[in-house]
Amino acid sequence: MKVLVVGSGGREHAIAWKLAQSAQVEKVFCCPGNAGTVEVAENIPSFSDFYKMADWALGNDIGLTVVGPEAPLADGISDIFLEKGLKIFGPKKAAARLEASKSFAKEIMLASGVKTAEGKVFSAFEEAKSYVEEKGAPIVVKADGLAAGKGVVVATSESEAIDALKEMMLDKRFGDSGASVVIEKCLEGKESSVMAIVDGETVRPLVISRDFKRLQDNDKGPNTGGMGAISPSNIIPDSEAPRVMEEVFKPVLSELKKRGVDFCGFLYAGLMITPEGEANVLEFNCRLGDPETQVILARLESDLAELLLAAAEGKLSEKEIKNSPTTAACVVASSKGYPLKVEDGKEIEGLFKGRADQIVFQAGTRAEGEKVLTKGGRVLVVTGLDKDLPTALKKAYQGLEEIQFEGMHYRSDIGQLGSS
Ligand code: AMP
Ligand code: GLY
Repeated sequence: MKVLVVGSGGREHAIAWKLAQSAQVEKVFCCPGNAGTVEVAENIPSFSDFYKMADWALGNDIGLTVVGPEAPLADGISDIFLEKGLKIFGPKKAAARLEASKSFAKEIMLASGVKTAEGKVFSAFEEAKSYVEEKGAPIVVKADGLAAGKGVVVATSESEAIDALKEMMLDKRFGDSGASVVIEKCLEGKESSVMAIVDGETVRPLVISRDFKRLQDNDKGPNTGGMGAISPSNIIPDSEAPRVMEEVFKPVLSELKKRGVDFCGFLYAGLMITPEGEANVLEFNCRLGDPETQVILARLESDLAELLLAAAEGKLSEKEIKNSPTTAACVVASSKGYPLKVEDGKEIEGLFKGRADQIVFQAGTRAEGEKVLTKGGRVLVVTGLDKDLPTALKKAYQGLEEIQFEGMHYRSDIGQLGSS
């Protein structure tokens, strides 16, 4: 079978890397991929629309398409591929709203009785401002729509929350995504990411991971898409995943079904585990996490292509997922300026490949002749694998220390219990 991976980040490099290991997979294509995906796949240029991409997939005998990022899913790529008779793993537009609209996600959580922070939706600035003044800080402001992981502000003062509202609702920093906002109670605790493969009926959990979102060490700097990840999480063990399926995933999926929406794809719940041990849902994503994928797939022993094809055909109930008990840890190297504006085109030196316990997944990179240059905020991650967290982290950091580019930044406290 030939497979197509849509996307260009570290998550997509990891997905392509894992799919390429399958005995069922003859060839992997990445659209558009990056300078690292060429190690395991053929990169093809982006298309101007999904109909053209689907025509290319039909013409090139693609047996399965796997979509990495949320934007094409929210824009309906799966609807179009399915209409053309192609097999695709990723939810249709109506189901992708679980990520693309935080107010929709809140409504579904409340209707299905899933634990989440108390909150309210606003589309008028003055009303939102009054609510912030009434509730006080700390308080969390979230742009309703997609904002590339940058639309959430955990405000420690009322003025910070009101500034965030201004930016989102009046200055339109995120365009229409900030036309309405969800304002919710700030929860205390430690986060973990739980993901599953879903085929519309059956839900199979993947191993649990923990993502580190702050840009700088010691809880400093803005939230980013994620600066590192570990799996297992040191907050909630893998053995809790079945319980999270029963208490969170299944109620939400059945609420969607009641509304005529079937979910087929990766489903991700960001959980806040309170000091009392209660799991509250912070967000849903309709895709795998980045950089969580770079640790989860490193631990996956099952054949990913087999699992995703079965899910795309509605036959996931016939499959079980097998994972390695090893620990995986990854650290992101980002460009100077991330998560704001960055300067591209810096040469990356010291890249290595072919090690089983230290894997480089490229993200914001492009090839120019023999050189690999930076192209974006998060440039690459190194995943280390070993029997326990300290040694897995050591391997990730040792790998990262071999790599250099101008303005390279990474955190030195990934994996620590007190970090976030
Ligand atoms: P989200 O995209 O909704 O997951 O939010 C991004 C990040 O903001 C989360 O990973 C948390 O670190 C933080 N966050 C979101 N909602 C809350 C909340 N209600 N309380 C505290 N932190 C939150
Ligand atoms: N690392 C968080 C996310 O992918 O949403």
